[in-house]
Amino acid sequence: MADIYDNVIELARRRGFVWPSSECYGSVAGFIDYGPLGAMLKRKIENLWRNFYIIQEGYYEIEAPTIGVESIYIASGHVKGFADKMCQCPHCKEYHRADHIAEEHGTPGADALSIEGLKDCIAGLPCPSCGESMGEVEVFHFNLMFKTGIGPGAQRTGYLRPETAQGIFTDFNRLSRFYREKLPFGAVQIGKSYRNEISPRQGMIRLREFTQAEAEIFIHPEHKTHPAFSRYADYVIPLWGQTQQMAGDAPVTTSMRGAVDSGLVANEYVAYYIALTHEILMSVGIRPDRLRFRQHLPTECAHYALDCWDAEIYSERFGWVETVGIADRTDYDLKAHAAESGDAFTVFIPFTEVRTEERRRILPDMGALGPKYRGKAKAIADALSSAEPTEKGATVVVDGKEYFIPSELFEIREETVEVRGEEIMPHVIEPSYGIDRILYCALEHAYDEEEVEGEIRRILHFPPPIAPVQVAVFPLVNRDGLEGIARSVTEDLTTHNILTQYDDNGAIGRRYRRQDEIGTPYAITVDYDTLEDHTATLRDRDSMEQVRIPTDALYATLEGLISGRTRFADLKNEE
Ligand code: ATP
Ligand code: GLY
Repeated sequence: MADIYDNVIELARRRGFVWPSSECYGSVAGFIDYGPLGAMLKRKIENLWRNFYIIQEGYYEIEAPTIGVESIYIASGHVKGFADKMCQCPHCKEYHRADHIAEEHGTPGADALSIEGLKDCIAGLPCPSCGESMGEVEVFHFNLMFKTGIGPGAQRTGYLRPETAQGIFTDFNRLSRFYREKLPFGAVQIGKSYRNEISPRQGMIRLREFTQAEAEIFIHPEHKTHPAFSRYADYVIPLWGQTQQMAGDAPVTTSMRGAVDSGLVANEYVAYYIALTHEILMSVGIRPDRLRFRQHLPTECAHYALDCWDAEIYSERFGWVETVGIADRTDYDLKAHAAESGDAFTVFIPFTEVRTEERRRILPDMGALGPKYRGKAKAIADALSSAEPTEKGATVVVDGKEYFIPSELFEIREETVEVRGEEIMPHVIEPSYGIDRILYCALEHAYDEEEVEGEIRRILHFPPPIAPVQVAVFPLVNRDGLEGIARSVTEDLTTHNILTQYDDNGAIGRRYRRQDEIGTPYAITVDYDTLEDHTATLRDRDSMEQVRIPTDALYATLEGLISGRTRFADLKNEE
């Protein structure tokens, strides 16, 4: 097969999956348009994702703005640190990611190198655009966020969000109330994120505007056992941990239970979402032998993350592509927003039994403090409540000045108090999916071509639930009442919400090829026998086998096939 990427992209453009954006004005790298079939495919992948996270997991979806005020991104660290290391070719003036040049020339993990380290590493290497040696070039930071002004005169600085996650963190306290302050709880968001990528030369893999689907799951910091872990405890997949990577060993094939018990994966939550991600990626048609889960090396893992795994999908053109990141982010995000905003970002967790605690209370004698300290008396009384008194008295600081308050001006009372619970700052488990990367890989893995009767048949083997068009209906010829029956079959299916395409144009073989190419899993042909026995042929895209089905049973049959409850081979056996 010729370069699969060129074939996939050619098909994707010709059949309306993906187009360069604003083509009539000269498209800009890093932006794409989804055409009619691409937009449908994307929506179906997103809805399949929703089935897992919203329906199965019970995490509701929110929708926050794509523009955020500066404070959000100061707190999150993006204003200060969301930068890539860049260099400029002195000959053609093109900008490049310095770490990518280093990696392409045999330095793995170059992202972790310092500015100086990268500078040494790329000295004398050829420019990826013009091929000239770049000699000694400067390497500098470039912040990837798009900056904007909010309101006339740009009164407030805003940023286009570089990830959907922050909208969930900033809503934490409202979400907590929505879930009646019961951990664990989670929220998800699917939407556009923006990164001003330095040189996006990788088609749909590196975009400047892309779609993320992220879940933020808030859990008790000391209880990292997933309540539904049994769902995936026996799920077996290969995992490529840090130890295996550093020793040059192959991934370990293990159950999720085994992965947690052996310490390969930090806790049940991370393991659970690794398995769930595997299941989602299988459902969109990613081939299991081209999917791996790789743990971040110590140099890659963010300092606050307890454990971090990437789902990487193999692409013929791009090699292993990170498509999903699954991380235990501890309380880093909530702590950062609490510090920046002054809000609490905690959940009150009641104890199972009310506890009693001995507490010391300091009661100021206001009658004595007032005349002595006048305007400062109230502040001194407040400061006394947290002072550490000795037998003689207590020292407090008010407005930067120290005051010694003799013990006769306050009373110390030892009290037994009832404590009903405690304020906890939850930890966050974050599975973060790049929908465009998943969609591209699903296209590439679905693509196939074969020779049939001297002609090339191009097929997209999409799993039926994500195929943009699910059924095609053809009248064999456009006369003798066949077209009327075909139209009423189409109408029956569309009233049942099955996306069906009616096509009466050209030879039947051509019509099948057109549908194979866009991945339509089933095609129905109404022919002369239909007039006699009220059956139509149902053709399976992958095997090209056909069976006859009574026209009034077509919907029920297709519903079973699309949902996966019935296999086409079983229909043949029933004949
Ligand atoms: P990379 O190293 O490839 O730039 P990243 O580590 O910066 O990716 P994350 O910040 O972890 O990626 O983002 C979470 C997910 O969002 C990624 O797994 C990926 O699927 C997606 N993503 C990130 N950047 C882009 C982009 N420029 N274009 C398309 N998808 C992206
Ligand atoms: N929220 C994870 C990321 O986009 O990096």
